[in-house]
Amino acid sequence: MPNNKELKEFDRKAQKLLWAVRDQTIELMNTPLVIDIKSSANDLVTNVDQQNERLMRRKLMEIDPSARIVGEEESFQHQLDQDLSGNTWIIDPIDGTLNFVKQRDHFAIMLALYCDGQPTLGYIMDVMNKHLYHAWREHGAYVDDKQLAKPVDAHLNESLIAINGWQLMKNNFHQQEIARGAAGLRMYGSAGIEIIHVLKGQLGGYTSRLKPWDIAAGRVIAEELGLIVKTIDDQPINVLSSNTVLVATKKVCQDVWQITK
Ligand code: IPD
Ligand code: CA
Ligand code: CA
Ligand code: CA
Repeated sequence: MPNNKELKEFDRKAQKLLWAVRDQTIELMNTPLVIDIKSSANDLVTNVDQQNERLMRRKLMEIDPSARIVGEEESFQHQLDQDLSGNTWIIDPIDGTLNFVKQRDHFAIMLALYCDGQPTLGYIMDVMNKHLYHAWREHGAYVDDKQLAKPVDAHLNESLIAINGWQLMKNNFHQQEIARGAAGLRMYGSAGIEIIHVLKGQLGGYTSRLKPWDIAAGRVIAEELGLIVKTIDDQPINVLSSNTVLVATKKVCQDVWQITK
């Protein structure tokens, strides 16, 4: 486990890195995108996803040479079989690739550090709004240099919530009943952007089936603000695999778990 002095240095360098990756992203947006299909027509990767991950891996290897680095776009399967001892940096080089391709808006760059499995540092860069959301466990959560206030602990029927569209259609965990119980439903198409809305208190909760890099950073920031990050049926998150995650106020969680239990 790194000491506070080492973590402070990691935090400073990681923030600098996120701004550099944002600069690279904006620059590459002015050139033609190279778009590849992964598992299906809705599952895309662009040259920007790949170049961002490459830059992040290269810099992280300088910042923390003995750490394990896990990223969405580079051969992750074997990495996820490993345990979480030591330092693990988790990269999502563009979160919301479909938004990035179709809208050139509403996407994020995310990075987290887990130390011996403990969520420790988290960063979500809202690229087009030019804001970096970040937290260091037990040291506060910030947007740029401004400390974020803890969101009001509102109930489901008083809150707007976000649910992934595919999950809502499948209705595996009674998502349609959850949606009907809320004040209103919103969908943004990027876990990072949706979690930012929960951090700011604009949404009372967000749920989606997420891979480790979709939730790793948001979890650090959300927990620092007293928000709950668990599965939609009240189980702890398994950091090494996919989970149907709920990020929400305590009261929204209680209301949702009444529905999913
Ligand atoms: C996706 C987005 C999307 C969420 C998917 C993620 P990607 O991330 O966050 O909102 O619903 O589950 O995979 O693939 O664009 O990084
Ligand atoms: Ca993807
Ligand atoms: Ca993602
Ligand atoms: Ca991604």
